[in-house]
Amino acid sequence: MLSNELGAMIVATGKAVPKKILTNIDLEKLVDTTDEWIVERTGMKKRHIVDDGVLTSDLAAEASEIVLQKANVAAKDVNAIILATISGDMPFPSTACYVQQKINAINAAAFDISAACSGFIYGLIIADGLLRSKSCKNVLVIGAEVLSRLTDYEDRNTCVLFGDAAGAALLQPSDGKRGMIGSYWQSDGNLSHLLLLPGGGTKHPATHQTVDQKLHYLKMAGREVFKFAVNAMSSAGIKVLEETGLTGADIDLLIPHQANTRIIKATAEKANIPMEKVFINIQDYGNTSAASIPLALNEAIEDGRLGPGNKCLMVAFGGGFTWGSAIMQF
Ligand code: ACO
Repeated sequence: MLSNELGAMIVATGKAVPKKILTNIDLEKLVDTTDEWIVERTGMKKRHIVDDGVLTSDLAAEASEIVLQKANVAAKDVNAIILATISGDMPFPSTACYVQQKINAINAAAFDISAACSGFIYGLIIADGLLRSKSCKNVLVIGAEVLSRLTDYEDRNTCVLFGDAAGAALLQPSDGKRGMIGSYWQSDGNLSHLLLLPGGGTKHPATHQTVDQKLHYLKMAGREVFKFAVNAMSSAGIKVLEETGLTGADIDLLIPHQANTRIIKATAEKANIPMEKVFINIQDYGNTSAASIPLALNEAIEDGRLGPGNKCLMVAFGGGFTWGSAIMQF
């Protein structure tokens, strides 16, 4: 989406990260892998994992409460809660409704979006539309995942990659100085078979057989996904730069989805953005899917790498396939 006026602005961010850590060394004890392989092929060193009983809605609510406190906005003044997740508490009702209940946002409409790792960008774009149309004043956009419960810790192709976390942002109409400059989103359902969780829906409802066949775990054809991810992430970045008339030199910070350091480097190179301007925290969290970008955004702001006057380009790619980008003026 592009218009001359600035779109929705991010007024505050927050995060929730479980305390328990799963290191590459821990994973060496679970599957046939090594710390060296994981670091070299992905850039990951550790990821955070929830304790038993902690839900996606718990992480999302914790991050949201921090955001509202920082923004000094009461929960009753939130008009919409958009929660991006592929690891909701249940197939329905939406996990966003549990978040609404937990933070007591009694006047909000709440719903989930399923766009895998692109979910937070999709959420920003939806929030931008709601705020530009003046149907909302305060929109919470959250990315939250408990992927550890959907991961097969006997499958080395996937279990080294994923972690749990939540990140959230409060969006309001632009104040004229801050806000969304442009965005881009796209999907391709032809490639859905390369990255999916097959079981538990109407195609493969839960049976003893689906459990035996491990259909309730994430499956990924890593090599094929990798190739597509590099092209999709960089093309999403380049498209939004072109549409807004900006270049890599105008961007103060690139926040890419944290799936693989090699994908991040290739994306930055293609968008002509030097690595000093790229935010990477994959070593600490692994791939937290929809939580990845808001988690990084929150950290970049807290570390002073993103502040007033800066332009931030966010790019993501995920299962679906889905991909997208947004440029935000801070
Ligand atoms: N430890 C050791 N060896 C391993 C491991 C492991 N954990 N996993 C795979 N291998 C082996 C493979 O079996 C293979 O062995 P082979 O050559 O004997 O068959 C070899 O390592 C190379 O495997 P590749 O799959 O080619 O490894 P690659 O370099 O592609 O790295 C990875 C794999 C990290 C998964 C990479 O492909 C990747 O990052 N893919 C994209 C992930 C992504 O972007 N996902 C999208 C977002 S996720 C979402 O939406 C939920």
